[in-house]
Amino acid sequence: MELEISSIGDFINELRDKLVVLEDAGLLKQERPLSGSQAVEIQASGKELLNFCSNNYLGLANNEEIITAAKSALDTYGFGMASVRFIAGTHNQHLLLEKKLTEFLATSATILFPSCFDANGGLFEALFDENDAIISDSLNHASIIDGIRLCKAKRLRYQNRDLADLEVQLKAASGSKSILIITDGVFSMDGSFAPLKGICDLAEKYGALVMVDDSHATGFIGATGAGTPQYFDVVNRVDILSGTLGKALGGASGGYISSRHPEIIAMLRQKARPYLFSNSVPPSVVAGSIAALDVIKAHPERGKKTLANAALFRALMLENGFELLPGEHPIVPVMFRDEHTAVAMAKALFERGIFAVAFSYPVVPLGKARIRIQLSASHTFEEIRTCVDAFVDARSTLGL
Ligand SMILES: Cc1ncc(COP(=O)(O)O)c(C=O)c1O
Repeated sequence: MELEISSIGDFINELRDKLVVLEDAGLLKQERPLSGSQAVEIQASGKELLNFCSNNYLGLANNEEIITAAKSALDTYGFGMASVRFIAGTHNQHLLLEKKLTEFLATSATILFPSCFDANGGLFEALFDENDAIISDSLNHASIIDGIRLCKAKRLRYQNRDLADLEVQLKAASGSKSILIITDGVFSMDGSFAPLKGICDLAEKYGALVMVDDSHATGFIGATGAGTPQYFDVVNRVDILSGTLGKALGGASGGYISSRHPEIIAMLRQKARPYLFSNSVPPSVVAGSIAALDVIKAHPERGKKTLANAALFRALMLENGFELLPGEHPIVPVMFRDEHTAVAMAKALFERGIFAVAFSYPVVPLGKARIRIQLSASHTFEEIRTCVDAFVDARSTLGL
């Protein structure tokens, strides 16, 4: 079939039509610009709101100690590195943060990336080739999906958290030189945990490596906040961990891969393309992230508060008859199922001073639309109560 060559005008018109289709389907993402700092009380779109949709799990995004450390690094080390790590972009501060993350996670070595998206984007291609197999949970984060696409290894997928299906895929992968099982530690749309104990057992049985992306757990899940491997007591059975500095650990930016095998980290320094070809994390962000780890170590009560707030919100919502996906994580999906209802509820919450976002297809399966509430250590009892009251009032106004 011969394709008709279109003009630039046709191309732009086509984009415009596609945007209209998205808008008509209620799928156009609208951004609400904040005018102050990331916190519970925010100003967005000119309105005072209580924020229930950031990844600021420990409330450290505007923490004084972290800001002071970052400011001091700005004064001492300047604004940016103007280089990738392997040329002139490695600073003592990067090495210190890598060491601190290694200690915090109880691994052997850590490598920083500009983001966790980059960490996941660069890892697979650097470590695996066409003789290997990668088995991925069906709900893994987009960065894992994209990273696997960049790699020549055989790709297999198992149903979300389904150990029986994982075993089927492990059998299908047999004969591969190396096999990697990769899972999110916590699934961001559901707030559910990966069954790490069962995954590690199967990995052992079939001689596979295990990788966990713990972006939604590091800092507050597990006895000292070391994440889901600590929570499930499998720290020494997980081979590779990825994570972000952009959520609980201060919320700025940057990501990392950490491993109990220093050889994995050494190879990533040689071959991971986002590490080799993208600017290194600015020293002020690195110093702030080091301070964040210090704050987390000094204040274990913060993580406990995050989880207690999640439990409180869940209890109050259930008491008021809302359908929640069960769990204990501060990601709390409030289910409305119908796409338009979820969007209408988020709008009604916004009018009542609550900032929360509706997620619908294709981000979640069709007919499973929801409002994803995220709790933080910074929320007070009164603020959580206000949020629940707003849900109740919005539901009654919308006649649901
Ligand atoms: C599970 C998971 N992995 C990776 C990322 C990407 O993290 P970053 O913002 O550091 O690129 C996210 C962020 O949304 C995430 O939820």
